[in-house]
Amino acid sequence: MTSPDRAGEKKDKLLFTPGPLTTSSTVKEAMLRDLGSRDTAFIAAIETIRNSLLGLAGLSREKGYECALMQGSGTFGVESVIGSAVPPGGKLLVVINGAYGERMLKIAGVLGIECEALRCGENTKTDPDAVASRLDADGSITTVAIVHCETTTGIINPVEETGALVRERGKTYIVDAMSSFGAVALDLEKAKVDFLVSSANKCIEGVPGFSFAICRGEELARCEGQARSLSLDLFAQWKGLESNGQFRFTPPTHTILAFEKALEELAEEGGVAGRAARYSGNYDTLVAGMGALGFKEYLPREDQGYIITSFRYPTHPAFDFTEFYTRLSEKDLVIYPGKVSDADCFRIGNIGRIEQNDVKNLLAAIASVLEEMGIESGA
Ligand SMILES: Cc1ncc(COP(=O)(O)O)c(C=O)c1O
Repeated sequence: MTSPDRAGEKKDKLLFTPGPLTTSSTVKEAMLRDLGSRDTAFIAAIETIRNSLLGLAGLSREKGYECALMQGSGTFGVESVIGSAVPPGGKLLVVINGAYGERMLKIAGVLGIECEALRCGENTKTDPDAVASRLDADGSITTVAIVHCETTTGIINPVEETGALVRERGKTYIVDAMSSFGAVALDLEKAKVDFLVSSANKCIEGVPGFSFAICRGEELARCEGQARSLSLDLFAQWKGLESNGQFRFTPPTHTILAFEKALEELAEEGGVAGRAARYSGNYDTLVAGMGALGFKEYLPREDQGYIITSFRYPTHPAFDFTEFYTRLSEKDLVIYPGKVSDADCFRIGNIGRIEQNDVKNLLAAIASVLEEMGIESGA
């Protein structure tokens, strides 16, 4: 499943990371065109993508939802939603158990939006009741933001339960579903999500270059004139796409073509359920194999999602992450450093165009790297 060898070119390394990810050769091939921003084929691709994303969420315009695409990586999408959805004089409550929650708080701070953090440990799911209590205690909070799969650890937060409590209290609800959308089922209506943000190069398996927001139409309409930025104005971006089907500023043409193909491949795989099945298979193989090598997971198994897994460093004095990483990379297998603040961990992603056989190859490579480093066990 790695990209095809071009004459004399080395195969790309397999990426066991949270993105950019290994993509299919057909997704990469879809980019081998130069289309102008007003090209009818390109405008049709944008329209198809916006409708397909709504469809993937089980939503439609008729149900009152809209989809906007935003140039830039996932953070740009999150920033456009926060900067547009929090009303002037409003206050944002950010529910945090990892680096991406912290990033939303930072975004709000930079934008001059009044904000407050509701933190729990990185190894703990966020608590819906704590959110409700915070909202009850502070009537000035207008908006709540949370991360679905906190990629720092791989934990899946209870966004549905939280959303119901947020909506009951009449607040706006933002969900960063960057690393989960497309492979972890989430009922946006049931979860009362007003804005969901994700990006091209995560579970949909496109290439990096844009993010997208799925928005409840009523809430999106309220964003008009509220943005703290010209380029990251969510309402203006959506309005532009609605009026002539085009991006307001230079569009990521090649990325859009790749993404259109990626969405087709997702549908062929059986949509969210099909992709969830492949990623869960990768995850099961990974944790069983890593366990057999002695490695310990950072999270309790019941809180762990199947997107990405954090493993604790082995306690053996000869373990050095840079050396471990480099030796695996020399075998064309790329893992990811940890991001947890209170423990030494590294991460292995199960997403992207990766199959169980690839995971088995990674496990065999990890076993031989441990041996090369003189480490008997990952414990
Ligand atoms: C949950 C989450 N939010 C936000 C981001 C930021 O996305 P990007 O690095 O594309 O800006 C990531 C990236 O991995 C993520 O996993």
